[in-house]
Amino acid sequence: MEEDKAFFSELYTEDSIAAFEKLNGVGYIGSQGKAFTEEVAPLLGLKEGDRVLDIGSGIGGMAFHLAKFYGADVLGVDISAAVVKVGSERAASTDVGKGNVKFEICDATQADFPSCTFDVIVMRSALMHLPYDKKYKVVENSFRWLKPGGRLILNDIHTIKEIPDAALQDHMKKRHWYLLSFEKNLQYLERAGYRCVTIKDKSKEYVESLTDELIQFEAKQEELLKDIPKGIFEVTLSHWKWKQEWATKQAFGEFYILAEKRGA
Ligand SMILES: C[S@@+](CC[C@H](N)C(=O)[O-])C[C@H]1O[C@@H](n2cnc3c(N)ncnc32)[C@H](O)[C@@H]1O
Repeated sequence: MEEDKAFFSELYTEDSIAAFEKLNGVGYIGSQGKAFTEEVAPLLGLKEGDRVLDIGSGIGGMAFHLAKFYGADVLGVDISAAVVKVGSERAASTDVGKGNVKFEICDATQADFPSCTFDVIVMRSALMHLPYDKKYKVVENSFRWLKPGGRLILNDIHTIKEIPDAALQDHMKKRHWYLLSFEKNLQYLERAGYRCVTIKDKSKEYVESLTDELIQFEAKQEELLKDIPKGIFEVTLSHWKWKQEWATKQAFGEFYILAEKRGA
């Protein structure tokens, strides 16, 4: 827990958030952020005033979208104080954010909410940072926090081929990546009580998006270095190259699952 907090507070600083945002688009610190939000938001069945919990919200690209276009009331929770600061400042300075989007620093594994609080729960590229027992705890709790008939969207990175490469494993360990196969992700959702409604493999789009982000990032290097320190630019670029290389070799890919808590 303390180790996770320390890792993410080192990873996310004002400068690195700026670098990730340049790679991923305004509001996002993960690949395919905007495209993912636009694809899944219409599937969530949101109504004006519905309550949404975004676990591992980052700086809130999805939270702001759901508030702006669906009138949702969104709480983003994230272990990183720096991303919560950026998200909160943006919420305070926009009309849509002021009333409807809030962020809190919170380790999802320690979170607690009353039963049946939320209509929708979002987990995007966050559970990948938790070992199995912690992933399961968060998913099991999320089932309790959802209202009957409520929906969960889980978007994450999954292993495709077992590739015994020491450098690959080492980098994953350093970045706190704890990946499971797609089937195991599905199994723990069902074990927690969820009924899976829509399942999508986004691995092809993941590689395309990483490739495109890399090309843009490198092409704009000169301009970006006016705002981002060189060291941060290089570390971010090298991590993205690593992701693109191994995603292309199918060590891992991306999926999403839309699931629901039965009953209404
Ligand atoms: C790859 S980023 C994705 C952020 C955001 N969902 C997006 O799409 O832009 C993963 C996020 O999960 C957060 N995170 C990691 N472990 C967490 C935990 N135990 N509790 C809450 N947030 C966590 C990180 O701080 C980071 O903001």
